[in-house]
Amino acid sequence: MSLAIISLGLYDEKDITVRGLEFVKESEYIYLEYYTSVLHIDKKKLEEFFGKKIILASRTMVEGDDNEILQHAKDSSVAFLVVGDAFSATTHSDLYLRAKELDIQTTVVGNASILTAIGETGLQLYKFGKTTSMVFFEPDWKPQTAYDVIKMNTTNGLHTLCLLDIKVAEPTKQDLANENYVPQQPRFMTIKQGLEQLKEIELERGDNVINTDTKVVGVARLGQPDQIIKFGSIDDVLNFDFGGPLHSLIVCGNLHFHEEDVLALFK
Ligand SMILES: C[S@@+](CC[C@H](N)C(=O)[O-])C[C@H]1O[C@@H](n2cnc3c(N)ncnc32)[C@H](O)[C@@H]1O
Repeated sequence: MSLAIISLGLYDEKDITVRGLEFVKESEYIYLEYYTSVLHIDKKKLEEFFGKKIILASRTMVEGDDNEILQHAKDSSVAFLVVGDAFSATTHSDLYLRAKELDIQTTVVGNASILTAIGETGLQLYKFGKTTSMVFFEPDWKPQTAYDVIKMNTTNGLHTLCLLDIKVAEPTKQDLANENYVPQQPRFMTIKQGLEQLKEIELERGDNVINTDTKVVGVARLGQPDQIIKFGSIDDVLNFDFGGPLHSLIVCGNLHFHEEDVLALFK
C-alpha cells in the first residue's frame, strides 16, 4: 500500500514537520531507524507524542533481504522515521528503490540535516568539498580516507565536513520483539578522538595536510539547545570539552572575510 520515509530533524519529537506528523498519524506501522544517527529523546517519549507504538528498525532489518518493513508496506501504511534528513549522509535510497520496485506508493518528507545545520558556523555551504566519514581506528585497521579527502578539498580551497563514527550494537530478533527493549548506548567518536586520529595519519604520511596553521571547527549537538560550536587551531579545539554526542568536525579551506567574521564569534 504505502511507505512514507519521514525525516525527524536534529533534536526532539517537536522537530518533525506538520506533513511528517500527518503521515505518522495515518500510519498503521511506524518504524524508527536508530543506527545512522541518534535522537536526543528516547522511543517512549516519541510514542507518547505520536500516541502510537514504534518499532525499532536495526540495520539488518532495513538492509536485509527479509525486509518486514516492505512486507508490511505492501498491504498497510508504513511510516519509516529517520533522524536528521532521511537522504542526507544515510543509505536509505536502497529501501526507497526496493519499495518502488514492489510498486509501493512511496513518499519522502525532508527535514533539517547536519549537512545544512553547519551553515550556522558561518562557513558557506557552497564552499564545502566532498564530505567524509571517520571510523574508529582498530589496532590492525586505520583507514586514511578522511585524510585523503581533506587533502583534496583543502588543495582546492574547500572546507571538509567530517562525520564521526557511531557504533551501534546489532540487536537480536528477540531483542526487537521485546517491547521494553532499550538499545545499548552506542559508542560515539568525539571531536578529540577524530583530531587525534588525523594527527596520527599526518605523522605517518607527512603530506602536511594537518599542521599548526590548520583551522578547524568542532560542532556538538547542533540544532539542540545546548549545542556548541568552537573554532580554532587543531590543538585549541582538541583540548576543548564538547560534552555529549553527537559530534562533527570541519576542517576549514580558504576563508572569506565574511566567514571569518562569523567564526570569530566561536573562537
Ligand atoms: C551518518 S550521519 C547521519 C546524518 C543524518 N541523516 C542527518 O541528516 O543529519 C551521522 C553523523 O552526523 C553527525 N551528526 C548528526 N547529527 C549531529 C548533530 N546534531 N550535531 C553534530 N553532529 C551531528 C555525527 O558525526 C554523526 O555521527
